[in-house]
Amino acid sequence: MKVLIVGSGGREHALAWKCAASARVAEVLVAPGNAGTAREPKVRNVAVQATDIGGLIEQVRAEGVSLTIVGPEAPLVAGVVDAFEREGLRCFGPRQAAARLEGSKAFAKQFLLRHHIPTAASVTVTRESFDPQTVRRQRTPIVVKASGLAAGKGVVIAQSAAEAVASAEAMLDGKLGEAGQEVVIEEFLEGEEASFIVMADGSHVLPLATSQDHKRLHDGDRGPNTGGMGAYSPAPVVTAAIHARIMREVIEPTIRGLAAEGMPYTGFLYAGIMIARDGTPNVLEFNCRLGDPETQPILMRLQTDLTVLCEAALDGRLNQVGATWDPRAALGVVMAAEGYPDAPRLGDAIAGLDLAAKLPGKVFHAGTRLSADEALVSGGRVLCATGMGATVAEAQKAAYALADTVHWPGATYRRDIGHRAL
Ligand code: AMP
Ligand code: GLY
Repeated sequence: MKVLIVGSGGREHALAWKCAASARVAEVLVAPGNAGTAREPKVRNVAVQATDIGGLIEQVRAEGVSLTIVGPEAPLVAGVVDAFEREGLRCFGPRQAAARLEGSKAFAKQFLLRHHIPTAASVTVTRESFDPQTVRRQRTPIVVKASGLAAGKGVVIAQSAAEAVASAEAMLDGKLGEAGQEVVIEEFLEGEEASFIVMADGSHVLPLATSQDHKRLHDGDRGPNTGGMGAYSPAPVVTAAIHARIMREVIEPTIRGLAAEGMPYTGFLYAGIMIARDGTPNVLEFNCRLGDPETQPILMRLQTDLTVLCEAALDGRLNQVGATWDPRAALGVVMAAEGYPDAPRLGDAIAGLDLAAKLPGKVFHAGTRLSADEALVSGGRVLCATGMGATVAEAQKAAYALADTVHWPGATYRRDIGHRAL
């Protein structure tokens, strides 16, 4: 069979690499892909943008692709799965209505409330309804979120009421475009964060291996929020008891609730969870896709054929399959361009990739492109050096051995990925 992966990041390189490892798969196409997917055996990039739904359908028809897996949220929120279904094509991901869990934080908050799923108390405001007085009465810090998709720039943790009011007003006044037309203002939650990712087929759920991401730019979890600077799996913070609570109190009522409301959820579902001191799994956010970089360590550990799991989900029989996981830990270190996330320096040539390819582990590409057979930096998050080991400490050693082998001017990465699991 032929498989199409939609997207161009590290998550998509990992998806393509994993699908290409399947004996059932003749070829994997990636739209549009990166330098890493361009060089991967059995994988070929096609020049179609991830949000060009018509172009994707054309490509799938022309190439005889039988399974499409969507990486990023934008095409899902734009309705790529609905469009494929109308054409009788198989595409793994939620339909547009269910993808609103990520596309509209206002929708997600109302949904959580309706189904009694634990989350921070919040109010949703618009330009017309916003009353700064209500914010001034709130305890600080105050969390201000643009409701729509804002590519990771939509959340402000305000240390004062004045900062919260200013952030909310900037969003409502159009700083983030449409994404800020509605703003969610919520209480600040304490605890330990974990990424909980499952596959769903509308009614059944298959949880993936646990993982944890490092969202802050600098060592010690300081500095601005980013898309994620590194991740590892498993996450010891998700004990068996916490795992059971997240399934029972978050995932199952979410899948049940969506089905009951007429928008059954098929696809990867990512719940960002803040685990409170008493173990309560509060939902910070939903993503309607896999996490990046969580996917890289998770798929390094997946021993089951991913295409088999996706097909089972599309057929509504996820309860008849299981996933087996490598008992070792996996850990990915994101290597970013100088100036990431605000103004990444692009265009530099990346050295050392051939050497790194001889070491254990895997360097997944994200913001890279090929030019005359040379890999160049083309985005803020450039590579994810992913290692494995008997323990998180061993996996960390392997990941940094890879990262230290690769160079370009201004390359930066955190030195402490995994510290919370050591
Ligand atoms: P989100 O995109 O909603 O996941 O927010 C981005 C990051 O901001 C999260 O990963 C958390 O680290 C942090 N965050 C979001 N909401 C809250 C909250 N209510 N309390 C504390 N931290 C939060
Ligand atoms: N690593 C966080 C995300 O994918 O949203």
